[in-house]
Amino acid sequence: MTYTNPLRDPQDRRLPRIAGPCGMVLFGVTGDLSRKKVMPAIYDLANRGLLPPGFSLVGFARRDWADQDFAQIVHDAVKEHARTPFREEVWKQLSEGFRFVPGNFDDDDAFDNLRRTVEELDQLRGTGGNMAFYLAIPPAFFGTVVGQLKEHGLADPGPDQWRRVVVEKPFGHDLKSAQELNATLAGVFPSGSVFRIDHYLGKETVQNILAMRFANNMFEPIWNSNYVDHVQITMAEDIGIGGRAGYYDGIGAARDVIQNHLLQLMALVAMEEPIAFDAESLRIEKQKVLASAKLPARLDLSTARGQYMPGWAGGEKVIGFLDEEGIKKTSTTETFAAITVNVDTRRWAGVPFYLRTGKRLGRRVTEVAVVFKKAPHLPFTSTATEDLTQNALVIRVQPDEGMTMRFGAKVPGTAMEIRDVNMDFAYGGSFTEASAEAYERLILDVLLGDPPLFPRHEEVELSWKILDPVMEHWAKKGKPDPYDSGTWGPESADKMMARDGRTWRRP
Ligand code: BG6
Repeated sequence: MTYTNPLRDPQDRRLPRIAGPCGMVLFGVTGDLSRKKVMPAIYDLANRGLLPPGFSLVGFARRDWADQDFAQIVHDAVKEHARTPFREEVWKQLSEGFRFVPGNFDDDDAFDNLRRTVEELDQLRGTGGNMAFYLAIPPAFFGTVVGQLKEHGLADPGPDQWRRVVVEKPFGHDLKSAQELNATLAGVFPSGSVFRIDHYLGKETVQNILAMRFANNMFEPIWNSNYVDHVQITMAEDIGIGGRAGYYDGIGAARDVIQNHLLQLMALVAMEEPIAFDAESLRIEKQKVLASAKLPARLDLSTARGQYMPGWAGGEKVIGFLDEEGIKKTSTTETFAAITVNVDTRRWAGVPFYLRTGKRLGRRVTEVAVVFKKAPHLPFTSTATEDLTQNALVIRVQPDEGMTMRFGAKVPGTAMEIRDVNMDFAYGGSFTEASAEAYERLILDVLLGDPPLFPRHEEVELSWKILDPVMEHWAKKGKPDPYDSGTWGPESADKMMARDGRTWRRP
């Protein structure tokens, strides 16, 4: 049975959503993800008063640490990366619930110790025995860890308790491995207790895609192939791979970002209206989009991939991908990927979705640009409209979260001259409260057992089904095309668009 929080009336979402008694076990406490995202988000939630007073956090790792050492690690991570100000009284209450369990993932004694720790925390801090197991570890270890949780009685909730598992991408590296991974998880946790994190779904602006489309009446009538020419989804980063060679080499841009974040964005932009904003209704609609996605027949013409060379980023000289520490000189891993996807439905027939992502590009920006067809007829002279491009609605996911509408307007003056102008909505200008970090929202949802923002296994598998043929095609081709750091990717990406008579936006 799931715990019901009396403070959370599902009829009134304006009430603060506060987690009931619970705790979390974090595997992978020494990794980047834990330090930069998970630990700070837990503190921020506590600081916002959204965690229960007895919330407990257990770190598990192969380190010879005491509880205080673990607390120090969390403290440093919070100081450096938390979004909200550090408050001593919040920290004190939170850190009293920190425990550390040393051990290897295959160490039975360590898991017995973990079980005892979880039971003790229930007695001492009133966690109610409700625990989320957060696997911030490489997927190769998922099987071992969930197996151990099952073996040692940690995966089965007692009466009126819950046990949930949180997994981070990569959810496999192709369809087959994703299916195996999903089967492993399903062997231990029921599907409603598995939370797959795609942190893009936790971003306010991503959720706003649904608000914009379905809470208004002005967008949906033109949201189809009668009016839309094509859609461009871009996630550009100016950073390189940093210290993540071990993770990134062999994975590459398409598996790292397109398989999850960009295909999820595409699904939200293209899906039909769900009958309700619940996990099942959303899954059904997103899944229909992913199932109807088709790649063009000629992958050599409709995809592009690249690898960054030395160049400039933020006014500084930077090294190329092959010179990064830990990267083999012969690596063919792509750091830029672009693909064309057709959504084969009546609504989207003939409207290509172009998805691109890359490291060391011109600047950091994620946006969805819905580009409309030209007006069918212009009663003006061609000189009056020569600067006019196509109307576009651009959803800026980050930074400068907001939306821009581009349309033609008359230039003031005696002649009828028309030029593009922008109409802007910025979150910062309309709302006083800063957006929470995606991880705050998602961790809170895990603790509340609220699954709409987590991709289900069907979506993950369908996304691999879309990407697998591209990866196979690229694997046969050898080296990716080079591009200078600080530019917008390889020439082949521009050629790919030019063949369709289109150009990438320069965001
Ligand atoms: C992660 C990728 O999922 O998203 C990283 O693994 C990438 O390679 C990161 O840097 C970007 O996230 P954000 O929220 O900064 O756009």
